[in-house]
Amino acid sequence: MTGKELREKYLKFFASKEHQIIPPANLVPENDPTALFINSGMHPLVPYLLGQPHPLGKRLTSVQKCVRTDDINEVGDAVHLTFFEMLGNWSLGDYFKKEAINWSFEFLTDKKWLGLDPQRLYVSVFAGDETLPLDKESIAIWKEVFANAGITAEVGDLQKGIEGTARIFPYDKKKNWWGPAGKTGPCGPDTEMFYDTGKKHEEKFGKACHPNCECGRFVEIWNDVFMQFDKKVDGTLEPLKQKNVDTGLGLEREVMILDRKESVFDTEVFANIIHQIEIISGKLYAEQNSKRPIRIIADHLRAAVFIMADGVLPSNKEQGSILRRLIRRAIRFSRQLGIEEMFMAEVADVVINDMGQAYPELVKNQETILNNLTNEEEKFAKTISVGLKEFEKLISKNTRELTGEQAFYLYETFGFPLEITEELAYEKNIKVDVNGFQEEFNKHQSESRSGAEKKFSGGLADHSEQTTRLHTATHLLQQALRDILGDHVHQAGSNITAERLRFDFTHDKKLTAEEIVRIEAVVNQKVKENLPVSFKVTSLKEALTQGALAFFGERYAEKVKVYSIGNYSKEVCGGPHVDFTSTLGNFKIKKEEAAGAGKRRIYAILTA
Ligand code: SER
Repeated sequence: MTGKELREKYLKFFASKEHQIIPPANLVPENDPTALFINSGMHPLVPYLLGQPHPLGKRLTSVQKCVRTDDINEVGDAVHLTFFEMLGNWSLGDYFKKEAINWSFEFLTDKKWLGLDPQRLYVSVFAGDETLPLDKESIAIWKEVFANAGITAEVGDLQKGIEGTARIFPYDKKKNWWGPAGKTGPCGPDTEMFYDTGKKHEEKFGKACHPNCECGRFVEIWNDVFMQFDKKVDGTLEPLKQKNVDTGLGLEREVMILDRKESVFDTEVFANIIHQIEIISGKLYAEQNSKRPIRIIADHLRAAVFIMADGVLPSNKEQGSILRRLIRRAIRFSRQLGIEEMFMAEVADVVINDMGQAYPELVKNQETILNNLTNEEEKFAKTISVGLKEFEKLISKNTRELTGEQAFYLYETFGFPLEITEELAYEKNIKVDVNGFQEEFNKHQSESRSGAEKKFSGGLADHSEQTTRLHTATHLLQQALRDILGDHVHQAGSNITAERLRFDFTHDKKLTAEEIVRIEAVVNQKVKENLPVSFKVTSLKEALTQGALAFFGERYAEKVKVYSIGNYSKEVCGGPHVDFTSTLGNFKIKKEEAAGAGKRRIYAILTA
């Protein structure tokens, strides 16, 4: 079974039950400020579950891309993913429990559809609490459904676990309640279906095994939610005007079960991605003692590609910061595999190839995705090795805990998200003062808000005069390249030492000698014109409207500095720069070479 086959089968089945197919929504919620990402198939449907009429009617079905990062530390086990696809079907005040449960069972077990053995299916229902009753209705429906398949199904006892005819297990709100997707909204009790993998239960997970046991024998495959409440800001549950059904099943898990694989990473869905990581690292997935690094890289990059395809760039805020965490975490695990070079674009390309047909936005935004991914990779790749050494230094002083200041130092100086520092510390059995980190972080945030100068202290390691000159020359160079080669040229990386500048840019042909001469001439002309260099602080949006070049996820997305060199060049940049171009001296290109697919690299110097 492939992901593609399963998508098609699912939609076809529910279309045959008179459901309309709705296209996947953008991963960034349009109408829900309480959540960063769409986390389920129902999420974009919240207004309709609350009672607004949907243009396509009362029965809907979809395959929705989802991102969940609450379980990010569990990614690498058999089933957890940050990005996944969710198959779902909905009744907006139309059918209810009976149809929902019967259709779930039919799709899972009928030979025409998935053909799973019904003997291997177990289910859970809501046990009720102080205010709500046990879901007897679902129990009765399940008994009948199983009876029709020749199976006697009784309600089981969690203390006794799986035995005899016990097949329906009630659980409390922690397990059998779903929603809301954000902080408020539609929610309700659910019934979940589990598949018995046949794996042997181990006593260390508890005496009796049951569908929600952690031993791994059962995998949850489908969730039918009976959405009857609207959770309000104060936490109260207000009954909805209509009774809805919201179901969801994870595509990757389903493929894993159907193909009897050990984990979602062993399915067709991940095969090409993992193969690419094998090629890059020279390490075979099957031969790894711990499969976590390869799995984490595969998951995180797949998620990053999808998030960027939906318009998010790496940054320190909101969606951008989650994206940044995923990318940086993937880099950190790539080091464990011995990958030292830039590798992300190659893996991302595989994701785009694999999934581009089902999700054309990946293909449409391919260039932006690859460029931004590479930019972000380059930024962190520069600091991670030094940062890791610094981390070792910090913990070598026989310390049992990293202070908030130290964790913040790693964040500020080397770009280590707190989570990475925590993971590194955990591996060494050291604690991190998370609250202290938060304090430092908040302190810094308010300082940077009050002191504009500090805030824009720029991104260069060495602010000596020569690097400042080279930095200004880099801006002139970028504009000159665009003038002479075309507007497809943009920055794909930049590195400045006291001796030279190095500039990577998008362009797929070697420069001719003549082009090089012309580029040098333009830059030197602008030096001669002695153009003033100045900056303005503005919003990123305003900067872009004014036509400023900006190719990096900005560190301070809210307010950015836009540097202008006369009327010639305008770029979002942290600075610093010279005041007048005549101080640059003579500009000379020393070398021009390839820098990966579709990219060139220029080394240039300034002489007196
Ligand atoms: N909202 C439920 C879930 O995400 C069912 O779609 O599991």
